[in-house]
Amino acid sequence: MASAKDIAQRPGNATAHSLSVSPSTTFHSPPVSRSFLAGGVVPGRTPKQLKPFNTGDIKILLLENVNKSGRDILEAQGYQVEFLKTSLPEDQLIEKIRDVHVIGIRSKTKLTEKVLREAKHLLVIGCFCIGTNQVDLEYAAKNGIAVFNSPFANSRSVAELVIAEIITLARQLGDRSLEMHRGTWNKVSAKCWEIRGKTLGIVGYGHIGSQLSVLAEAMGMSVIYYDILTLMAIGTARQVPTLEDLLREADFVTLHVPETPETKNMISAPQLAAMKTGSYLINASRGTVIDIPSLIHAMRTGKIAGAALDVYPNEPGANGDYFNASLNQWAEDLRGLPNIILTPHIGGSTEEAQRAIGVEVSEALVRYINQGITLGSVNLPEVTMRSLTLDEPDHARVIYIHRNVPGVLRKVNEILGNHNVDKQISDSKGDIAYLMADVSDVKVDDIKDISEGLEALSSRILTRVLY
Ligand SMILES: NC(=O)c1ccc[n+]([C@@H]2O[C@H](COP(=O)([O-])OP(=O)(O)OC[C@H]3O[C@@H](n4cnc5c(N)ncnc54)[C@H](O)[C@@H]3O)[C@@H](O)[C@H]2O)c1
Repeated sequence: MASAKDIAQRPGNATAHSLSVSPSTTFHSPPVSRSFLAGGVVPGRTPKQLKPFNTGDIKILLLENVNKSGRDILEAQGYQVEFLKTSLPEDQLIEKIRDVHVIGIRSKTKLTEKVLREAKHLLVIGCFCIGTNQVDLEYAAKNGIAVFNSPFANSRSVAELVIAEIITLARQLGDRSLEMHRGTWNKVSAKCWEIRGKTLGIVGYGHIGSQLSVLAEAMGMSVIYYDILTLMAIGTARQVPTLEDLLREADFVTLHVPETPETKNMISAPQLAAMKTGSYLINASRGTVIDIPSLIHAMRTGKIAGAALDVYPNEPGANGDYFNASLNQWAEDLRGLPNIILTPHIGGSTEEAQRAIGVEVSEALVRYINQGITLGSVNLPEVTMRSLTLDEPDHARVIYIHRNVPGVLRKVNEILGNHNVDKQISDSKGDIAYLMADVSDVKVDDIKDISEGLEALSSRILTRVLY
């Protein structure tokens, strides 16, 4: 990926325009530095004068054993990457975060306002996981810090787990295996089924639901699905108009919806009553989607022949003997049921998914650092433009993260207006707006003027100039 050079200015930075190697504090016009030469300038060509830093000046802290696939991508860019296997206690985290431009975390590191307040140079946070609850997204956005995650890299892993569960439930494999572990030979065929020709009902036909649809059809199942959106069917799957239609028809019901107020207890006593007698229920979405006491009742009465749960309303923060009544009051009842598969939220936990997460998040970080592209950001508006290349020596990319208040664009364009603006794009998300403009025929002094002009605007949160 062609790496543009970056100037970033943070609000309230008194040292702006002094000599510095920090990409998030300032720019300067020093003699060409050794690190700049190492950044790929061909000897003999006249180097550009404004060189605040090259990729080697970007400092990245990776915590919580981020997958090697992600580390490799960041190191290949020439960034300085410090890698730690664990998360850090808050005081050590604060100490370390003061210095870095990028931090990569998984779910254990809490990036609260208290921590982020100390992160004076931080440009971007990479959550090498699905969720972003561990980060104060609003504070980050208000301070121009982008946050990226990887919400869909484990879809296939979840879909495969569900396929395994469908067969396991249909053949009562969990129970037979437990019996054998206890020394009991119990060869039965009653109420054990092939899945060929059975109907799978998928609730939520998104990334996981649609993957599952393909796999289930390949094994001879008929697939129906219900979604709040009208979505194009894959293969011969068929969308049904209501949840009730799906529950009435399906032999296996599997849930793949997000956690929203509408999906809370989406499967409760009336929905279980609407299901076929002897059908199966699978939930690898969110723990709040099923009303578990109602499921326990439906299994005890024989209405539901089997269930697989991977997610629960309350889940422990660490591994250990925690799946008991003090975590969820019905836990012991659930554990006592036959033909129920209970797994500890492992739907997306595979080596492949971890690798895919590493690649997806690191690539998003590189795009953001080098080109200012925010596609996939969870807290900033998503803005993209094709990258600037070294063939465009007098181009600059201006990025202006600002408060979304009336009149900003007019003021920004008064500053950019004297220059040749090739492209400009702006978008907002709540109180925060992100503007990106590519300007051509700009010399060192022009870039300096643009940067200083934007910095002086009262709406500014962060100004970066890439060139
Ligand atoms: N068990 C795990 O380890 C694991 C791993 C990854 C994802 N998940 C969970 O799986 C779920 C699905 O993930 P995804 O990546 O497929 O999400 P997605 O956003 O791609 O798809 C969700 C689908 O649900 C639909 N939907 C939303 N509200 C609905 C409603 N009330 N009724 C019917 N359909 C509705 C949406 O329109 C969308 O098509 C999420 O809850 C996610 O958190 C679990």
